Amino acid sequence: MSKSLFRKKTIASILKDAKDGLTDGHGTGELHKVLRVKDLTALGIAAVIGAGIFSTIGEASYHGGPGVSLLFIITAITCGFSALCYAEFASRVPVSGSAYTYSYVTFGELAAWVIGWALILEYAIGNIAVAISWSGYFNNLLAGIGKTVGLDLELPAWLTSNYDSASEAIYNAAPTIFGFPVILNLPAFIIVVLVTYLAYVGIRESKRSANFMVGLKILVILFVIIVGAFYVNIDNWSPFMPNGFSGVLKGVSAVFFAYIGFDAISTTAEECSNPQRDLPKGMIYSLVICTVLYILIAFVLTGMVSYSQLKVEDPLAYVFNAVNLPKVSFIISVSAVIATTSVLLVFQIGQPRIWMSMSRDGLLPKQFSRIHPRFKTPSFATIITGIIVGIPALFLNLTVVTDLTSIGTLFAFILVCGGVLLLPERDKNATAEKRFSLPYISGQFIVPAIVIVCAWLFRHELTSRLSTEGGWDVWKHNIPFFFFVIATLTFTVLSALRKLSLIPVLGLLSCFYLMTEIGLRNWVVFAIWLLIGLLIYFSYGVRKSKLAAAE
Ligand code: ALA
Repeated sequence: MSKSLFRKKTIASILKDAKDGLTDGHGTGELHKVLRVKDLTALGIAAVIGAGIFSTIGEASYHGGPGVSLLFIITAITCGFSALCYAEFASRVPVSGSAYTYSYVTFGELAAWVIGWALILEYAIGNIAVAISWSGYFNNLLAGIGKTVGLDLELPAWLTSNYDSASEAIYNAAPTIFGFPVILNLPAFIIVVLVTYLAYVGIRESKRSANFMVGLKILVILFVIIVGAFYVNIDNWSPFMPNGFSGVLKGVSAVFFAYIGFDAISTTAEECSNPQRDLPKGMIYSLVICTVLYILIAFVLTGMVSYSQLKVEDPLAYVFNAVNLPKVSFIISVSAVIATTSVLLVFQIGQPRIWMSMSRDGLLPKQFSRIHPRFKTPSFATIITGIIVGIPALFLNLTVVTDLTSIGTLFAFILVCGGVLLLPERDKNATAEKRFSLPYISGQFIVPAIVIVCAWLFRHELTSRLSTEGGWDVWKHNIPFFFFVIATLTFTVLSALRKLSLIPVLGLLSCFYLMTEIGLRNWVVFAIWLLIGLLIYFSYGVRKSKLAAAE
């Protein structure tokens, strides 16, 4: 048994399975191969710019002040390392399973299952957060349109809220069924249904919609940056970090959430005309474009008003209202609705494709790899994604899901970076073709040097976080950090001894560090989530796996 848990698929067998389709006779297995670099870059931007920059950045700026722009840079560098590692895998294993498939090749089946399970947090659970945020902006928009035309278009609060966040007034106003107040987020549910429909009817339709939405949102964001720049008061940038660096770090989950998505395009590998060349480019281009826009937005946002006013759910719209430009604020609400719709679409496309890969390997029932005969999309898996995202979106609240999404995604990034270190050497014929190849820089001296410099720079922080003075109640919050220190020491020694490749090592350690900033409570929920996943694997996947059958 223990050996079989680490059974691995070879890259050759994965490519063959994907080519054969491995459907259940419901149609031919081929997906439409229509995506090129431009579409992939657009899909990447479609997935990245959304709820994060339009909503969660508000609270991060409130805690971190203008220094939050530093966090955008740090997070971009971390994501950059991971993007390069994703790109390396995408050029070697161009199939739809993303980090799940990559782990299958490098770490074996158990780790692959765990990562596939964790990716549900990024895609399906992440989309619940995005749908809830969409609903908030949509309702603002209705209110705004209503004001202009003199009608009350705003939906009743009991139709746009949830049991957890509803005020007493909402409870009192809600109708009751069998004595229970009806409080649900109807717009969030409806948008999930519509987007699921689009994902179901075809990748071409999805591509066209994503391209259109991305064009519009980039225009609006550039407009916001340019107009906002005229209203920046540089006094607002001082103090730069009003609550110190620890205040800035409170925004890790929110800022990282804003970057999630560039990796999602790897799930469309089987719909690309040349995935090995185009996917890496698409990921890197979209990350670079989003990084530049984000850093500029962070400066503009914190320059227009004092950071202390930014604890709002619609910070971009808020700052323009604050400088007396309500029309711009209205445009922002429109574009927020469009931007979050495109995020929803890409994630709603990504989740079924990961399940499709897991099903091909036998770890999920074979219906999950069923391809629609006419639309050529993973039909059953798309509908299940719609249900799993749509129903909780009716009832859940935003923050619970954002933190969980960030921690699950960071975990996936760590495994992808770690996986690159285990990849076999490229065969010479493959490198002769025009494919992306991760540059090898030896970490032998650079990793130890960086670790020593960081340890010295942050020596006070390090000693205080490792000190046991405050007793268990304080120390328990440092457990994740403690594991991070152990991982850092291990990889420093390994880099020195085995000349590990620098980029994946830095990616792995920087993602691990960001994960330590997401709070113990989220780690506990995440651990429970993984345990549930393991239970499912040991009661189903371990027996049904294709590799088990072959053994
Ligand atoms: N990065 C995506 C967003 O901010 C998930 O909505």
